[in-house]
Amino acid sequence: MKKIIMLFAGLLILLTGCSIGTKWNNPIPNDEFLIIGHRGASAYEPENTIPSFELAKNLGSDYIELDVHLTKDDKLVIMHDKDVKRTTESKGKIKNHTLAELKELTADEDKDGKVAASAQKEAYDIPTLQEVLAQMTDETRFVIELKDPDEYDGIEEKLVSMMNDYGLIEKDKKGYPKAVIHSFDEESLQKVHRLNKDIPLLQLISFDDGEEAKMTSKELTKLQTYAIGVGVSYEALNAEFVSAMHQANIIVFAYTVDDREDAVKLQAMGVNGIHTNKPDLLTGTE
Ligand code: G3P
Ligand code: CA
Repeated sequence: MKKIIMLFAGLLILLTGCSIGTKWNNPIPNDEFLIIGHRGASAYEPENTIPSFELAKNLGSDYIELDVHLTKDDKLVIMHDKDVKRTTESKGKIKNHTLAELKELTADEDKDGKVAASAQKEAYDIPTLQEVLAQMTDETRFVIELKDPDEYDGIEEKLVSMMNDYGLIEKDKKGYPKAVIHSFDEESLQKVHRLNKDIPLLQLISFDDGEEAKMTSKELTKLQTYAIGVGVSYEALNAEFVSAMHQANIIVFAYTVDDREDAVKLQAMGVNGIHTNKPDLLTGTE
């Protein structure tokens, strides 16, 4: 009889696919290695533009990452820096420009040899979040970064409202959240959490060069009150950290990984996904 009970218990563990007491409890399944197109497919197209997002989608990205800011007239626009200097022909802070003024600029300054054909100027303007959401099909999932949110009063409310308008606060047919928000700014993430507890949030964390990823149990307990995951600079990641996060039902995304060998190592480590400027990193021929 004892043998039969042990056999039954063993079978139960095998069938559930995990040891008793460690059921995965996170909106993002823990059985796939996700490719997140960082600022789109920004190794190949000007970052944070619609052509970059379209290419990222066509290259098979599971999620598309983009950075949001607020204009002087309170419109959510997509750009990485809070100043337009690096990626356009002009200069000055986004928050000091109206949307109409930003729309006069071209988001394809040739800083990395990725300049778009000037004939396609319109396709390479600074997109609003609304334009991106309206143009991309239902199947696209987004990782939206609240970038420098302390610069913009009310940006969290505006973002949550737009996510509601576009049905992003729900899961897709495959069971994945249509959108998650990440940020280095904990206060801003906490604010989003207070506004809507159904939006999955990831805390971005950077570690110094040579430093290993770590988190105290106090920090982890706090993280669990508002976030479902962390985004960590990939060089700092190690298997122990990833395993500790998974034990706590926290997913781990790594940023920003453009080398195939690094990607393979991170996958073997159990990392849930990578931000990459090359969404074809693991499927391409390079
Ligand atoms: O991929 C994580 C990343 O988005 C945070 O860094 O500077 O590229 O926005 P950054
Ligand atoms: Ca970002």
